[in-house]
Amino acid sequence: MPVITCIDDLKRLHKRRAPKMFYDYAESGSWTEQTFRENVSDFEKIRLRQRVAVDMSNRTTASTMIGREVSLPVALAPVGLLGMQNADGEIKSARAAEKFGVPYTLSTMSICSIEDVREHTKAPFWFQLYVMRDEEFVDNIIARAKNAGVDALVITLDLQILGQRHKDLKNGLSAPPKPTLKTMIDLSTKWAWGLEMLGTKRRTFRNIVGHAKSATDMSSLSSWTAEQFEPRLDWSMIARLKEKWGGKVILKGVLDVEDAKKCVEVGADAIIVSNHGGRQLDGAVSSIRVLPSIVAAVGDQTEVWLDSGIRSGQDILKALALGAKGTMIGRAYVYGLGAMGEKGVTTALQVLQKELDISMALCGKRDVKDLGRDVLLVPEDFEGRWQ
Ligand code: GLV
Repeated sequence: MPVITCIDDLKRLHKRRAPKMFYDYAESGSWTEQTFRENVSDFEKIRLRQRVAVDMSNRTTASTMIGREVSLPVALAPVGLLGMQNADGEIKSARAAEKFGVPYTLSTMSICSIEDVREHTKAPFWFQLYVMRDEEFVDNIIARAKNAGVDALVITLDLQILGQRHKDLKNGLSAPPKPTLKTMIDLSTKWAWGLEMLGTKRRTFRNIVGHAKSATDMSSLSSWTAEQFEPRLDWSMIARLKEKWGGKVILKGVLDVEDAKKCVEVGADAIIVSNHGGRQLDGAVSSIRVLPSIVAAVGDQTEVWLDSGIRSGQDILKALALGAKGTMIGRAYVYGLGAMGEKGVTTALQVLQKELDISMALCGKRDVKDLGRDVLLVPEDFEGRWQ
């Protein structure tokens, strides 16, 4: 077994082990991938302020996210098709999160269903909702989430229509993969993945199949989202959904102060500053760049979290120090899952926690809840002067 020291190690293993179309699905941004790249490179522009001769004993990374105690202020983000990166991927990720003491968010576009995850875990999980045209389907999936004891609904705001990811089109992304010559050649080198996949019955979008009417080609993400997703989603619809749900609501995909204020108006318990990992509007600014302005505008009225671009504990530290109360990770744990299943997700969380813990100490802090701007060196023009 190779020694894993960082998230990049897991990424390399994921690439080697999973079929190309699924690794590429995770590792894509939309169009030129500028936003996808800048989510990561903008973190690098911020430096940490080294402090010395500070008592470093009794450190903690524990915190809370919407009132829930977490061992690390990191939740696993909703990610589509996890069960194609590794057999039963959603169940494995949820189990790893449960054992580690962080929240897991199941995507609408998952392979394992709400019921599958419930059956295999004990801790409450969060459910991410894509709003569909079929109202009956939406009502039904909300009821299913309630039945499963889901304790927060994550409504994604930035994907009513899909940003184009070139690789998915070129690879003919589908779940399960179609047996084309190109796919068969690729799969012939991914036999460990294939064997595990043969051992599970969970190989389609199980939240949808059998629950949604008129879904024609369920295997194709792009045609399916174009047919099913509700393009009319607006603030009044979000308010109605919140009422229908009746529990905690997290609004995901906010990149603008005006939108953040609207989220507060509709009563969001938390908002996630996010550009969907650079998968939607290519050319949008990175999440970390807009975080300070959103925290300044609404940080005292709702919890502001951040996702997009986190690949290390140092990145988490920077987001928290800029005012995020919590973070979500996507690719950072998906690499782990693709590399070695549940153990890989746990390893990813361990790597991030250790990096955060040690870096925090070297910045002279012992508690993640005490992180603030004083540990950072931020370039004067970091947020950018845009007209
Ligand atoms: C779905 O959420 C995607 O980004 O592919």
